[in-house]
Amino acid sequence: MLDQSIQELESGSLARIASAGSLEELEAVRVQVLGRKGALDQFFKQMGKLAPEERARAGKLLNGAKQALEAALESGKRQFAEASLRARLDREWVDLTLPAPGPRRGHLHPITHIQRELEEVFLSLGFAVLDGPEVETEYRNFDALNIPADHPARDAQDTFWLANGDLLRTHTSPVQVRGMERLGPPLRMIAPGRVFRNESVDASHEHTFYQIEGMMVDRGVSVAHLLYFMKIMLAEVFRREVSVRLRPGFFPFVEPGFELDIQCLLCNGSGCAVCKQSGWVEQLGCGLVHPNVLRMSGIDPEEWSGFAFGLGLTRLVMMRYGIDDVRHLQGGDLRFLEQF
Ligand code: FA5
Repeated sequence: MLDQSIQELESGSLARIASAGSLEELEAVRVQVLGRKGALDQFFKQMGKLAPEERARAGKLLNGAKQALEAALESGKRQFAEASLRARLDREWVDLTLPAPGPRRGHLHPITHIQRELEEVFLSLGFAVLDGPEVETEYRNFDALNIPADHPARDAQDTFWLANGDLLRTHTSPVQVRGMERLGPPLRMIAPGRVFRNESVDASHEHTFYQIEGMMVDRGVSVAHLLYFMKIMLAEVFRREVSVRLRPGFFPFVEPGFELDIQCLLCNGSGCAVCKQSGWVEQLGCGLVHPNVLRMSGIDPEEWSGFAFGLGLTRLVMMRYGIDDVRHLQGGDLRFLEQF
């Protein structure tokens, strides 16, 4: 009777082990059959009541069953461990012979891109491309441009002053001064660069933005020359003829001075949010170089005359791509910049 029960327990348990689908199922069989208070343990306990010769036989049977079950459990566990290792290795397999993906390719920022296009245009028109420092002297940022210490135009350009009296240039115009000092007349130059103003940021104003300065000094330079070069430049940037208008504008370093507007390219002049319903967008300041400015840089205004312009490069890029907020353009968010 006991023998049969032991054999049934053994064969039933072996079958459960063989069909177990997971380590957890194997463990459940082990606890039920081999664990303390498990089925085998119950049989061992009953042995005390048996006659000595029966006890010996039952003991042998029980020990045999125990060993067979332990061996089966052990090999079942090993199989699961090997299967999970194989699955992990499959998952983590890497083909080391594949070519490496290489660094991610970037591209130029739209501002840099248009800056370089403009440099090409002006180089082809005989202009030099000059660079100037972002930390400037008060003299070149203001005084040499006919903006004396008490002049109200200094307030118009909220300035980041440095402790030593220098400043972060508020426009690229000081490079005019450097160009005149270094090259002398006749000269044609542009100077792209970063400028800084202590003002609060909104959709069309940044505290740090880009301008391109331009200057030509020669004999008999007039507003006609200025307009000619501005129209060539704008047609190149926008890849089409653009309508421009000049309004009087005050800059102490030019006389006469103008603000040059272009007809809004987003609405073709009919009025939209970007042009604030006016049909026109302010693009740059310009004019004929003031005689005082020529004189301060050692050029005789009786013999030479010139034009100068200062273009808001950041705003030009916004117009070209139809970007309605400067913070998108200069915020450094790649999700935005990767569109260009
Ligand atoms: C000037 O900075 C003069 N130096 C330009 C100039 C040069 C006039 C040579 C005459 C001769 P203005 O402050 O208007 O001018 O700035 C020029 C352009 O910079 C503006 O037309 C505008 O396009 C751009 N700009 C001005 N402030 C900001 C700003 N906070 N954020 C982005 N663009 C700006």
